[in-house]
Amino acid sequence: MALAGLTAAGCATGRLDATRPAGPNARDIDWLMRLSGWMAVAVGLFVAAAVVTIIVKFRARPTDDPDDLPPQIHGNRKAELTWTLIPTAMLVFLTVVTLPTVFALASEGEGRTIKVEGQQWWWQFSYDLDSDGNDDIVTANDLVIPVGEEVNLEIHSNDVIHSFWIPQLNGKRDAVPGRVHHWKISADEPGVYYGECVEFCGLSHAHMQMRAIALAPADYQRWVTGQLRGQAAAQTAPPEGSSEAAGAALFETHCISCHVVDGAYESAAGGNAALLSGIAPNLTNLMSRTAFAGALYETYRTGPDGSYARGPDGELVLNTAELREWVRNAPAMKPARADNQQGMLGFAEVLTEQDLDHLMAYLKTLGSPPVLP
Ligand code: CUA
Repeated sequence: MALAGLTAAGCATGRLDATRPAGPNARDIDWLMRLSGWMAVAVGLFVAAAVVTIIVKFRARPTDDPDDLPPQIHGNRKAELTWTLIPTAMLVFLTVVTLPTVFALASEGEGRTIKVEGQQWWWQFSYDLDSDGNDDIVTANDLVIPVGEEVNLEIHSNDVIHSFWIPQLNGKRDAVPGRVHHWKISADEPGVYYGECVEFCGLSHAHMQMRAIALAPADYQRWVTGQLRGQAAAQTAPPEGSSEAAGAALFETHCISCHVVDGAYESAAGGNAALLSGIAPNLTNLMSRTAFAGALYETYRTGPDGSYARGPDGELVLNTAELREWVRNAPAMKPARADNQQGMLGFAEVLTEQDLDHLMAYLKTLGSPPVLP
């Protein structure tokens, strides 16, 4: 029991704490979990008390004749009916209160729809702002949503079965190749809600994370505007002779067979990429994301308590060291099988230190800093 208690305590207050619901869907699940939990506690206490009572009350006494058995009640109809009907009634009750929630959670939401695509080993989120069938914003790792709105997710998989789970916002929903699963999330308060892939999907399954970033409506609009502005800005070539321009040239040589930058480098979207999943993260607004590499690393430097480091003017400080290292040798930072087109390639033998500096300069031009809750 001590071991079970310690193990369960390991889930509390962590990033994937399912006991602190932050939205109506997660609260429905939490309520059912607590109801069935307390019913189980009541049953457990009753059984434990009965066992102790029986052990004490009917214990063998020195005066007892060992051959003298108490009255046997095998086949006692009253006892058998009691211990059959009470548990049956409890389970029927739990079923009746659970089923409506099961169906309600699986129904299609009424709010805006965001397309979720799982692939080895990261999540992509696409926004069709004007509902014309074309995605207007494509991002990765950060699922940005407005607070207080029920957001409808359309969950797809581009390779194997994954499962989408942001515990504080709703339960788990599988991403299955060739199928579309609907799911709903909503957050009451602005905040960052962490999630994980929860269906074993290969080598880096444990590193396939995501985070929902819930923003106040005005901030959400600011984020949308920033994403569109980033797309427009990415189409302007950096000034000739600059480090950014040298980086863009390197990007064109080494990166665009997998990565898209809207309006500038679209080859991956055209289907030329010989990737297993068909896609790698769209980098148009890379700087606007709080995390990279399947949300395994922070884009901006954070302190030990998770708060962001700030520069002299209060600006976020880019996590240059890890981002640069990721470009240099990604497989060393996240288990992948790049040779099998699963995960980012290593460029340690291709790019010089100066190339990396140029590439970093170019990447820094892609989008503006994230809108934080
Ligand atoms: Cu994707 Cu586990």
